[in-house]
Amino acid sequence: MENIRERISRLKKERNAVILAHYYAAPEVQDVADFLGDSLGLSRLAATTDASAIIFGGVHFMAETAAIISPEKRVFAPAPDAGCSLADSVDAAALRKWKEAHPEGIIVSYVNTTAAVKAETDYCCTSANAVKVIQALPENREILFGPDRNLGTHIMEITGRKMELWSGVCTVHDEISSGMILDAAARYPDADILIHPEAACSGDSEVLQLGSVYFYSTAGMLSHVSGSDKKKFVIATEIDTIHQLRKENPEKIFIPLAPSLLCNEMKKVTLDKILASLEHGEGEVLIDSRTRERALLPIRRMLEIG
Ligand code: 13P
Ligand code: SF4
Repeated sequence: MENIRERISRLKKERNAVILAHYYAAPEVQDVADFLGDSLGLSRLAATTDASAIIFGGVHFMAETAAIISPEKRVFAPAPDAGCSLADSVDAAALRKWKEAHPEGIIVSYVNTTAAVKAETDYCCTSANAVKVIQALPENREILFGPDRNLGTHIMEITGRKMELWSGVCTVHDEISSGMILDAAARYPDADILIHPEAACSGDSEVLQLGSVYFYSTAGMLSHVSGSDKKKFVIATEIDTIHQLRKENPEKIFIPLAPSLLCNEMKKVTLDKILASLEHGEGEVLIDSRTRERALLPIRRMLEIG
């Protein structure tokens, strides 16, 4: 009798499907994935895989982004109700109003947004390429950046570029305060502290000046650890990132900044739901073609910048 992992594996082959999962997915979901990545890496994988179907181990906006990029593939969100506080913080009507108040502004939206918001956007970015995207824009133009005000503040601090910011936050990373980072730096002087730029402390110059602190997207943290001679790392992001960090670096020590840094929305994707998508086509992502075409443009521009 096949167990659930064996059934998933057989159905994947029968359906010519791949499972893409974010590093914040539950460890058992990460373990059945064909590819793991951060938001940027997963967008690239969705664009390049030659599978006919993608099962997305992540929240809904991620599966939707894959469906925008790959219209010729069937894309499934096993947990269609898996939301994101950032994506929920702005809708297309509110974004249009913001644009009307700043008619000359360039709209840069974090990839954590709905297809309808991307359709109103000039450039998308992820945490991995946000600085690069902003630096690529003409200096004499106003920039409206949303919805993550912490990432926006971080980019302004790094680039020196002023931007108008939307006031959304990731409810998980917004818990990460400057005080928590300063405490960790004092407690673990021999560790590197890796912080996601969605954190509340991301624009704090006192934190940015600490010698052992680095800001990275999730995949950036994995690259930093594999290229570092250090033995100990404080991880200031969603705690299931540590699952992959430990697998790739069994000899190193990972200290979660706080056990509460858990995205419950990501954990809505379970093996049972992945199986239901493969077996019965549950959670297929369907986007109307006009929204999809408009939403593709800012994603393409982002992927071209890097
Ligand atoms: P990255 O995947 O860009 O690291 O973003 C993290 C995140 O919160 C995704 O929802
Ligand atoms: Fe959204 Fe934050 Fe969860 Fe990522 S970790 S999906 S940004 S709520």
